[in-house]
Amino acid sequence: MSKLHIVILAAGLGKRMYSTLPKVLHPLAGKPLLGHVLDTARSLSPRRICVVYGHGGEAVPQAICDETLIWVKQVPQLGTGHALMQALPHLDNDGLTLVLYGDVPLTGIETLKKLIAAAESKTLALLTVDLEDPSGYGRIVRNSKTGGIAAIVEEKDASNAQRQVREINTGIMAVPNQYLHGWLHKLENKNAQKEYYLTDIVAMAVKDGVKVDATQPDYAWETIGINSKTQLVALERIYQNECAKELLEQGVTLADSSRIDVRGQLVCGRDVEIDINCIFEGHVQLDDGVKVGAHSILKNVKIAAGSAIAPFSLIDTAEIGKNCRIGPYARIRPGTRLADDVHVGNFVEVKNSTIAVGSKANHLSYIGDSVVGKNVNIGAGTITCNYDGANKYQTIIEDDVFVGSDTQLVAPVKVAQGSTIGAGSTITKDTPPETLTLSRAKQVSIDGWTRPVKKVKGEK
Ligand code: UD1
Ligand code: CA
Repeated sequence: MSKLHIVILAAGLGKRMYSTLPKVLHPLAGKPLLGHVLDTARSLSPRRICVVYGHGGEAVPQAICDETLIWVKQVPQLGTGHALMQALPHLDNDGLTLVLYGDVPLTGIETLKKLIAAAESKTLALLTVDLEDPSGYGRIVRNSKTGGIAAIVEEKDASNAQRQVREINTGIMAVPNQYLHGWLHKLENKNAQKEYYLTDIVAMAVKDGVKVDATQPDYAWETIGINSKTQLVALERIYQNECAKELLEQGVTLADSSRIDVRGQLVCGRDVEIDINCIFEGHVQLDDGVKVGAHSILKNVKIAAGSAIAPFSLIDTAEIGKNCRIGPYARIRPGTRLADDVHVGNFVEVKNSTIAVGSKANHLSYIGDSVVGKNVNIGAGTITCNYDGANKYQTIIEDDVFVGSDTQLVAPVKVAQGSTIGAGSTITKDTPPETLTLSRAKQVSIDGWTRPVKKVKGEK
């Protein structure tokens, strides 16, 4: 069994977010801050994960909804040491504890593994960084002779000399549990903030002759915590920039690496091209040679090789075959599967429908709850009337059908193989195969027709 216990501190108020949503639930790249921390925690396969929550109350456990987590309520919040104390009953003596923060979302797994390895050899392992501007942070105070860590001093309690120190405490640490219990019980709140500081265990470790070590992350942003919307948007950009860098390194062509947003996972084949301002949500897979036009939004989509999405298209929870042409301004909604060589053009909405090989709906259509066969041509303005105000019905359009423009297909209805529908028809009954079906008034021209004229006021 893993020795690792992870405690995530997430009880803070987040006053400076000016929001009713608890701070740790604010999204970064489409996922709550706490969700990022939990993903990282889970990937370390710990014995257990405790989340200390308080502000925002049950909204936090409710939003995360994971039965494997241990939720520990901290009310009132008397400091980081007090927070960790609430989780003590869940920290087995033979293990070690990694302390993470619900508002520090992007700490790297490799960075944390280094801390854990140090704690495994009975060391109190701290994650520290050197900052140009260390103000606001706890400072790492080192022994002037040995250079070893002596204590962490909070800014509000620091002397002027200590405030000059640029090495700061990120808060993230790994502690052998055999010491943690004793140290936490000894914490006092005799300081400027009248809080129980977790950081005070550092001086206790030194006093007890326990080794204290500092590890630094590869990137300073791994330790950035979020207190305001300004910090949130800055970290979002850092995250997106990292995503873009990774895509470029894999050979994806981006029109502008600063104008792409990945809110989930984007998996690309070779020679994929992505134009500006595209958003990818959930799990998106773009196979070889796929092109995504500017301003498109793709969510939980799989697009097979050679397909091109023209600008301003929205595709949600759908599968697109090879060499399809989608958009511009197409909307493809959940439950849609397009086979190879399908064209869905401008202002065409497709929902919960399958369209077979080589079929086209190029302009201004709604195709809902439909099964469309091969080599079908759906004329401009064709609507499947799938809803009677209470229930939804299916439309079946078989292979080689030609639907004339501005046709309404009133479901449930089947347009049989090879049939042609004349433009402007309202089709309410199944059509026989290989026939022309029309339903519209015959065109007449009336001689001498005069248009109505506007009445003058007062005239009868
Ligand atoms: C803490 C550290 C400081 C470090 C800084 C890094 C202490 C005493 N100080 O200071 O050395 O440089 O973080 O950002 O640890 N929290 C609770 N319950 C509480 C108090 C805090 O869950 O009672 C959580 C908060 O939600 C937050 C985190 O702990 O996520 C840090 O709390 P905060 O009050 O922001 O700590 P700082 O004063 O910034
Ligand atoms: Ca504080």
